[in-house]
Amino acid sequence: SLEKSLRPQTLAQYIGQDRVKHELGVYIEAARKREESLDHVLLFGPPGLGKTTLAMVIANEMQVHIRTTSGPAIEKPGDLVALLNELEPGDILFIDEIHRLPKIVEEMLYSAMEDFFVDIVVGQGPTAHPVHFPLPPFTLIGATTRAGMLSAPLRDRFGIVEHMAYYQVADLEDIVKRTADIFQTPIKPSGAHEIASRSRGTPRIANRLFKRIRDFAEVADKDAIDEAIVTRSLTYLRVDEAGLDETDNKLLRTMLEYYDGGPVGLATIAANIGEETDTIAEVVEPYLLQIGFLKRTQRGRVVTLKGYQHLGFPYPETK
Ligand code: ADE
Repeated sequence: SLEKSLRPQTLAQYIGQDRVKHELGVYIEAARKREESLDHVLLFGPPGLGKTTLAMVIANEMQVHIRTTSGPAIEKPGDLVALLNELEPGDILFIDEIHRLPKIVEEMLYSAMEDFFVDIVVGQGPTAHPVHFPLPPFTLIGATTRAGMLSAPLRDRFGIVEHMAYYQVADLEDIVKRTADIFQTPIKPSGAHEIASRSRGTPRIANRLFKRIRDFAEVADKDAIDEAIVTRSLTYLRVDEAGLDETDNKLLRTMLEYYDGGPVGLATIAANIGEETDTIAEVVEPYLLQIGFLKRTQRGRVVTLKGYQHLGFPYPETK
């Protein structure tokens, strides 16, 4: 399907994240030369940057199978044993949102990762007895949004740790052009640039906006996506010039109108704008920090001069 072909299959096809790609390329080549399984990999970064895609690329480059699951989906030790039991030597288990694994499951992963075995208890009451369960060598790839959310014992068992950053506009332009190519939709460089610069540094957002803008272009009988149709479409989609959506703007406006621009705590902001604290911390705030509209202080979040200017509010002289 088109949707599926949007995902790059190899490191060479994967656009951006050059440092991550280069490092992984070395570790993959070394493991292959030694005919070993790849060491466990931890991927940090905001949603939509391609952590799952990268895990699939790693599996393809290692020529092994990949089993994909998520922290909340593994409810009990038996669920994990069932997944591990299906792996062949060298295979990859990918656990998205690995910080949300139940504690008892997380603890079982320690011996699985370190020495490729799990000890499970079989039976109940007086017949309960421990069973030592050997596993094939495998690679765990874990993905999580924030560095601070993982326990030290789990974090320490990953030999390879990669931080994924928001994409550069130039890289997003290449991703948008590649997507347009796959969808057989002509796009002008100015159109690709405009989508790229208003996608919050995030390929998933760039591709989503592309699809909607393609619809607007189709209905307007445009033969190519240009800057004008992008600008017009994004007005309808309520994405502003800086690429901020309604949630971003609501957060900034609430901080200015009700908290004098801060400092204000994350939970207070979340309650005021009706979003989960986790969503603010993992999705909304990181990008606003990255572009310098917000900053973190010991007493909470503060809107910067740039943030004030973006909303057209005068910067208080007392700040
Ligand atoms: N599609 C989404 N993210 C991508 C990336 N990083 N490289 C190539 N295609 C992509």
